Amino acid sequence: MSLVTQTPQWQALERHWQQLKDTRMGDLFAADPQRAERMTLSAAGLRVDYSKNRITQETLDLLCDLAGAVDLPGWTRRMFAGEPINNTEQRSVLHVALRNRSNRPILVDGTDVMPAVNAVLDRMETFVEQVRAGDWKGYTGRPITDVVNIGIGGSNLGPKMVCTALGPYLSDRLRVHFVSNVDGTHLVETVRGLDPATTLFVVASKTFTTQETMTNAESARAWALASLGDSAAVARHFVAVSTNGQKVAEFGIDTANMFGFWDWVGGRYSLWSAIGLPIALAVGFDRFKELLEGAHAMDEHFSTADIRENIPALLGLLGIWYANFAGARTHAVLPYDQYLRYLPAYLQQGDMESNGKRVTREGVAVDYTTGPVVWGEAGTDGQHAFYQLIHQGTQLIPADFIGAIHSQNELGDHHLKFMANYFAQTEALMRGRTYDEALAEMLAAGMPDERARFLANHRTFPGNKPTNSILMERLTPYTLGALIAMYEHRIFTQGVVWGVNSFDQWGVELGKQLAGVILKELEAGAVSGEHDGSTAALLEHFMQRRT
Ligand code: F6P
Repeated sequence: MSLVTQTPQWQALERHWQQLKDTRMGDLFAADPQRAERMTLSAAGLRVDYSKNRITQETLDLLCDLAGAVDLPGWTRRMFAGEPINNTEQRSVLHVALRNRSNRPILVDGTDVMPAVNAVLDRMETFVEQVRAGDWKGYTGRPITDVVNIGIGGSNLGPKMVCTALGPYLSDRLRVHFVSNVDGTHLVETVRGLDPATTLFVVASKTFTTQETMTNAESARAWALASLGDSAAVARHFVAVSTNGQKVAEFGIDTANMFGFWDWVGGRYSLWSAIGLPIALAVGFDRFKELLEGAHAMDEHFSTADIRENIPALLGLLGIWYANFAGARTHAVLPYDQYLRYLPAYLQQGDMESNGKRVTREGVAVDYTTGPVVWGEAGTDGQHAFYQLIHQGTQLIPADFIGAIHSQNELGDHHLKFMANYFAQTEALMRGRTYDEALAEMLAAGMPDERARFLANHRTFPGNKPTNSILMERLTPYTLGALIAMYEHRIFTQGVVWGVNSFDQWGVELGKQLAGVILKELEAGAVSGEHDGSTAALLEHFMQRRT
């Protein structure tokens, strides 16, 4: 099996980068007045302008040739058809089935999964309505006022990000909280001020074996029972979301209070499943369905549009262009929407756990860069923190700017000021400022010549920095669903080009194993395992100071 780097399509792109690397985007715009229009696509309520990239039509042709060479359409078809494309775990990858609002049959091992998907959605709806209406009573007969989701990774980041993003849709009488970290502070601080009699815990874990989640769940149960007294109260205050009924029962949660999902749902792709229960509790089931509908609309776009008009595929290919040909090592996600402040953290798991891989599906070590470091911060906070490096540092950092035409909180002229920054940043990143422009500006402002010449280099911006501008009318459940699905398929596209399995995560195992060994030593109060000198000394020091 040869690596993608050996294909003529890859090599053509390498040559093409050498030809294009000094081209200025500004010149490309000047030469083609239709560029912005040609390089803007719309689907599922999102408008994506990718014209501020260091690309020509030839670049797009070559990238699309590469997508053809790795059979992106074939892999997409296989994913949507339920084939076991997660080859190391021998599983299908079917988060698209969870939001398949068309209800078209999707088969896994010859069985249509849609009836089971719909059955769980129906159970979720009934439960959500009971809790939101105050009909689901706690052990003492009082309605639930607070929901605490206990989960980590995909069982936390997605629901937390979405519940924050949908702030304007939150229930007034049902607050939703998230506990993920095994640092006791997280649980203690979260339940401080909550009343056990009106608190419902959702223990969310695909495996129901994750150390952090199980530890937090046990402490949460102890906290609830310390006040409620009777272990029968667990049935009214704990529900589980998991694929592992046996472990749920062992924990003491009645499986009648368990919402299931399936091994073909990856943790980081699971917010559309019962893992989304806190979302539905927070915003209501109809809004949750709108979220699924937005994602489904993006799925339809991704699975049917030609690559040249396919938003997630093109965004993925642009990422390949910068990572593999232009030497970019990171990708910035910059939402100009306070409600989207957890999107970068969510996408860190989505992207880095998916494509942070060093071997191909076949287990062959790659000789090219795979998943980038994904990072970001909501605008305009980021502008006053790290944009300096994007503008004038030495690294190439492609960035996505995400914004909405209408704010959910139109307050005076805030939104116009906010969006002025959104537009100005991509313009500034592309345009830059030459030495002569910087000098002229300072001289015109009356600065002495010598001082102006000294400062001109410091005030020069190279520009030519690539950005995508993603705009939506308003951040709603529907557009949010589409946005998340867009990124999921962008990740998928890149995984296909790199030839990696984007759906396993073996890299998280080693640390977990070693933590298990070290925990036993910490409990025993003695270093007994084999450790390097640094780790052994750290452990000794820690244990001495604890006694
Ligand atoms: O960090 C590894 C991981 O397996 C993630 O992929 C997953 O989202 C997270 O742990 C939580 O797993 P679980 O839902 O099984 O508790």
